[in-house]
Amino acid sequence: MLQTKTGTSNIKLEPLAGKALTASEAEAIRDIVHRHRDKPGALLAILEEVQQKTEGIYLAKEAIWSIASELGESPSRVYSVATFYSNFNLKALGKHIITVCRGTACHTRGSQALLQEALSIMGITDYADDEESVFTSNNGLFTVRSIACFGQCALAPVLSIDGKIFSRMTSQSLSSLIQSISKGKKK
Ligand code: FES
Repeated sequence: MLQTKTGTSNIKLEPLAGKALTASEAEAIRDIVHRHRDKPGALLAILEEVQQKTEGIYLAKEAIWSIASELGESPSRVYSVATFYSNFNLKALGKHIITVCRGTACHTRGSQALLQEALSIMGITDYADDEESVFTSNNGLFTVRSIACFGQCALAPVLSIDGKIFSRMTSQSLSSLIQSISKGKKK
């Protein structure tokens, strides 16, 4: 299900700085656009498929320009749709996704400390406590993001790693999980 963000309507798409898609990337986008273009909800379907087929599961600026060009739309319009829905990522995600619940039940049971622990292990200290923020470690191994509620409040604080739920987490247990994953051990 698509989820919307708020406060993103004023974001402007910066001009491209000399980057270009490879011929095969451009061809893949052309194919996706042509398969969806005359269907209802075409733009969302196109953005979803392009994102899913991109390494790092995101929409590069170059891809947005290419989609706009194929559709005959303005890049700003395509970009504004991509920024409106939280399902779309505008930066490449890490190999492992840590999602920390920031709902009320988890917050009162220490989710803020979990988020800080995850970010500090990755060397990220200058973050804003914003539910829409997404942080990726410099080595591309982890992305940390938050969610409003997993619907498992009785098990708070809750987080997920690559879709697997971990309940009643502590900073220590999160730290050892991250270390295990970093060393290539199974969770
Ligand atoms: S508030 Fe965290 S699971 Fe509901």
